[in-house]
Amino acid sequence: MHRMYNFLLLFFLSVCIAESAGPLTTVCNDDTKTNGSSQTSRNIDLLLHKLVSGTVENGFIATSYGEGDARIYGLAQCRGDVSEDDCSGCIQAAAKHIRPPCPDQTDARIFYDNCFLRYETVKFFGEVDVSGLHYYNIENVTDPDVFNQKLGALMDQISSEAVKPSQKGLGKGKSKISCFVTLYALVQCTRDLSDINCARCLAIGIGNFPTYCNNRKGCRVLYSSCYVRYELYPFFFPLDPENESLAGGFVKSKSISAYKP
Ligand SMILES: *[C@@H]1O[C@H](CO)[C@@H](O)[C@H](O)[C@H]1NC(C)=O
Ligand SMILES: *[C@@H]1O[C@H](CO)[C@@H](O)[C@H](O)[C@H]1NC(C)=O
Ligand SMILES: *[C@@H]1O[C@H](CO)[C@@H](O)[C@H](O)[C@H]1NC(C)=O
Repeated sequence: MHRMYNFLLLFFLSVCIAESAGPLTTVCNDDTKTNGSSQTSRNIDLLLHKLVSGTVENGFIATSYGEGDARIYGLAQCRGDVSEDDCSGCIQAAAKHIRPPCPDQTDARIFYDNCFLRYETVKFFGEVDVSGLHYYNIENVTDPDVFNQKLGALMDQISSEAVKPSQKGLGKGKSKISCFVTLYALVQCTRDLSDINCARCLAIGIGNFPTYCNNRKGCRVLYSSCYVRYELYPFFFPLDPENESLAGGFVKSKSISAYKP
């Protein structure tokens, strides 16, 4: 029995590491192509340095670089539960990997599980933006009625936690579905949003559950303004020591929707 638990634990950790390695997606707005050698393009590179150092220091930054038409606005944020090291690694990777797929665009976003980075020529701070993607576990829950009732209650609870000023947009929690199954969920808004706009973004993500996550064992909503995720295993830090919940299985997700900003 012990060996089985160890195996599951190892397996779970390796899935986690593999998961956090690459970006989940990069989105470039092709209507915003610029001259690769322009001042805007140089400003993007300089902005990226600012975004990395600000995020490493504070977990979040919304700032700009440059003057006039070549001014570029950027925002970067780590998931509130990740360690400083993981945050730093994630945001550095984001800054490195955002430009190659979007070399000439001035509106680009990159989504990871642990962090998010975005820039644009218009000042977008404070506005709800639900462009992004949904991921779901291909497995379905066995008892949708009980599951959805628990899921709805947990989402309500952590959404109201996320809008409390001390929370910096983060809410997380768990709920027992049965003796052996625990549901884990986390929501987070970008910290430029007001409480009302945070609540609005989360409500849109959760409201999209019936469409994108219907009865699935796990689901992730990655929007430019907020992140919503639930799983039947612990995925946020500090990791839950209740190891029986590993019996909930690991995720097998796929992207089903990516809209252009
Ligand atoms: C791009 O910018 C460079 C240098 O500023 C200039 O020489 C070139 O003609 C520009 N190309 C276009 C397509 O605007
Ligand atoms: C889960 O449910 C969906 C919708 O009913 C179905 O299309 C899908 O095949 C199910 N997945 C599995 C793994 O059974
Ligand atoms: C994990 O599971 C094992 C085997 O059931 C148990 O002995 C141990 O106490 C559990 N650890 C924690 C931290 O719950």
